[in-house]
Amino acid sequence: MLTFSFHNPTRIHFGEETIKTIADEIPVSAKVLIVFGGGSIKKNGIYDQVVAALSAHDFVEFSGIEPNPQYDTLMKSLDIIRRHEVDYLLAVGGGSVVDGTKFIAAAALYEGEEHWDILAKQQSIKRALPMGVVLTLPATGSESNAGGVVTRDGNKLPFFSPLVRPQFAVLDPATSLSLSDRQIGNGVIDAFVHTMEQYLTYNVNAKVQERFSEGLLQTLIEEGPRALAAESKDDIDVRANIMWSATMALNGLIGAGVPQDWTTHMIGHELTAAHGIDHARTLSIVLPAVMKIRRESKRGKLMQYAERVWNITHGDEEYRIDRAIELTEEFFTHMGMPTRLSQVALDSRHIDNLVDKLQQHGMVKLGEHREVTLEVSRQILEAAL
Ligand code: NZQ
Ligand code: ZN
Repeated sequence: MLTFSFHNPTRIHFGEETIKTIADEIPVSAKVLIVFGGGSIKKNGIYDQVVAALSAHDFVEFSGIEPNPQYDTLMKSLDIIRRHEVDYLLAVGGGSVVDGTKFIAAAALYEGEEHWDILAKQQSIKRALPMGVVLTLPATGSESNAGGVVTRDGNKLPFFSPLVRPQFAVLDPATSLSLSDRQIGNGVIDAFVHTMEQYLTYNVNAKVQERFSEGLLQTLIEEGPRALAAESKDDIDVRANIMWSATMALNGLIGAGVPQDWTTHMIGHELTAAHGIDHARTLSIVLPAVMKIRRESKRGKLMQYAERVWNITHGDEEYRIDRAIELTEEFFTHMGMPTRLSQVALDSRHIDNLVDKLQQHGMVKLGEHREVTLEVSRQILEAAL
């Protein structure tokens, strides 16, 4: 196992009717900014629950954060924060709202001249407003991690700081009942691929992390289809298992002490930035291609994945690995996700630009061995056609 330090201070309130706990989490003396997206929370009653819980607090609102949050939108909040002397942020939404709120938390107290440098130059964040989260879409794990992703002019860039990790996150699985099938599929597959990026690397004898990861993958394989099936769509236990899996997949636990890959995500971000494809739909296209092109360096873990996640215990090595990749693709398809670029109307003519963008963003040595050069990324994109 690799050396690690692990500290995740985000307090989780999990279960039905837990939105009311925000009243005790946010100091009553705080001036709160409620941050949300395009309005889903007004249709499904979550907004009303938040406002009822904050009846003793003083708050203002900022809305309109779009999926894949845009820098220019987020910057508009700074004026409201200054005018109302906001000192606490509450994100109510999915990963985009949470990531956007993290950026706002840092931007509000940023002392540099150009806020975009937080992303473009990975300027270290020295101060940030405190924030909490009411999560409405289980997927990204952003509610209890220290990262975010923001887009500007076709550049979708990540940033990290322990200062933007939420102080608390409310995970009420009932909030996810109003999700469309498309968003359910996206969420399950995002969590699945987060687990894979930290699992499908090489062996460092980290048994706890491996078995946690295999448990998360199997839970998502079991529960994902149930969240889409008519007879179990409203089953709150199904939603609870998905929600907790998504948080656990990217809260630092399974990634501590193990090598990590993230090739699928970095190539995926370019697909979203250039072509507007939903985050998780880029992952369902890229991951199978990564498994194929990096088959030799991932051989040991592919064999373990085949046996422990898909119960493939017969046939020779090549057969087992082929079958595991096939079953992964079938699972993605079952969840309504594309697995080829052709399914999102892209072809070989688009690859040059995607590779150029990877180069511009410094993504030239990806993967657990840093062996995914631009040439290997090109092979991965070609394998995904
Ligand atoms: O904007 P509203 O009206 O809220 O609608 C949203 C949005 O249209 C809707 N939605 C959310 N909760 C709902 C709901 N609709 C009905 N009922 C509900 N309960 O769903 C749509 C998509 O929301 P979004 O927040 O964009 O989805 P997701 O949670 O998948 O977040 C994706 C973003 O997170 C980033 C992605 O790159 C992308 O920008 N990620 C963040 C990570 C992190 N911080 O650790 C890691 C991930 O790998 C990912 O990169
Ligand atoms: Zn993701």
